[in-house]
Amino acid sequence: MSAAQLRVAPAGALHGELGVPGDKSISHRAVMVGSLADERVTVAGFGASEDTLATVAAFRALGVRIERRGDDGLVIDGVGLRGLAAPDGPIDVGNAGTLIRMLPGILAGQSGTFVLDGDESIRRRPMRRIAEPLARMGVRVETSDGRAPLTVHGVGETEPITYRLPVASAQVKSAVLFAGLYAARGMTTVEEPLATRDHTERMLQRAGVPVDRRPGRVAVSPVRELVLPHIDVPGDFSSAAPFIVAATLLQGSNLTLRDVSINSTRTGLLAVLERMGGRVGLFRRRWAAGEPTADIEVRPAELVATEVEPELVPSLIDELPLVALAACFARGTTVVRGAGELRLKESDRIDTVATVLRSMGGHVRALEDGFEIRGVPRRLRGGRVDAAGDHRVAMLAAVAGACSQEGATIDGADALAVSFPDFADRLAAVSA
Ligand code: S3P
Repeated sequence: MSAAQLRVAPAGALHGELGVPGDKSISHRAVMVGSLADERVTVAGFGASEDTLATVAAFRALGVRIERRGDDGLVIDGVGLRGLAAPDGPIDVGNAGTLIRMLPGILAGQSGTFVLDGDESIRRRPMRRIAEPLARMGVRVETSDGRAPLTVHGVGETEPITYRLPVASAQVKSAVLFAGLYAARGMTTVEEPLATRDHTERMLQRAGVPVDRRPGRVAVSPVRELVLPHIDVPGDFSSAAPFIVAATLLQGSNLTLRDVSINSTRTGLLAVLERMGGRVGLFRRRWAAGEPTADIEVRPAELVATEVEPELVPSLIDELPLVALAACFARGTTVVRGAGELRLKESDRIDTVATVLRSMGGHVRALEDGFEIRGVPRRLRGGRVDAAGDHRVAMLAAVAGACSQEGATIDGADALAVSFPDFADRLAAVSA
């Protein structure tokens, strides 16, 4: 990765209407489920980024014909549940944690041996969390001391299990559910102590899989084929979030984000902002791909500090850096606990977020499992920061720069391409 530098000038306000890329989590899953269907699947609103294109490349390497149509369309000629073929070399997942953690669940049901590898950041992230439940299902996933590269030995038929997630992770849940599609002898159940994003179960259900959902658990039964001719991907709440926070912090803002997913397993940020005094409204509610969506209207607000409790963390795990930023502007001290998973993301997001916000003038203390932030209701100073190879840290720094006195200079801003390639242009377009 080259170390592109981005300069973000201080903004007075954010104005106008904005669309955001298709949801990254749902885009990954659309390629996966589409590839496993028996027939042609079209995808609209696909959020093309380095991460999701790594998933497209992976399934092409596994023998699936996938064509791109325009900026956000895909045509996938599904090969059926067991039709993937082992490529000669390793599959490169790039920076995509969702791909490397979920794909083994699908490869479990194929025949052959598959090697998965990725970039430096992927090679630091824990993979036993998927190897362990898959082993219980009879699938051998060899790790390199708990990390990538991984070698997955397909078994064709898996063993049904009931698995209680030791960490709140939708990626792990999804890997087990995918592997459960190949468990001919029964139902595979995942119990989750805290609700995590449920896009996989929604999409599988729409594709005809018997999915049994109860509070705290979800179960799938095997099927012969997946049928889902068209998938409409809604806008990504996690890509809307930087704009929601910026428009809240910049006095005089009036911003509308169109067609954004408001799945409640993702929108914990809205609950936290509401408690802090934020003014965010949801309009034009409708459905896309079995997911609730809306237009999100944001007005500026004076914020007060809050406490983010562990139960809420999975619903805003990717937005916690932005919560920390909002807390820098709120009256009082905000505390976030139960977010130790942040240390295992694309970077150690407790350290990288605290470093970025502190060097721009924020009063942020890193805790073992969260943050303590003393808010000061005036603009951050700004300054030069490093994105640490992490797209969410790059977005945080850009928004913090827009809300600062001096602006931000961000090294390693090319990380933005992982989830939101034209983020900087869209921020500039609505900045006044
Ligand atoms: C994701 C799940 C979350 C999230 C990641 C995307 C997904 O990770 O942080 O950005 O698409 O399922 P975990 O499953 O590790 O919590």
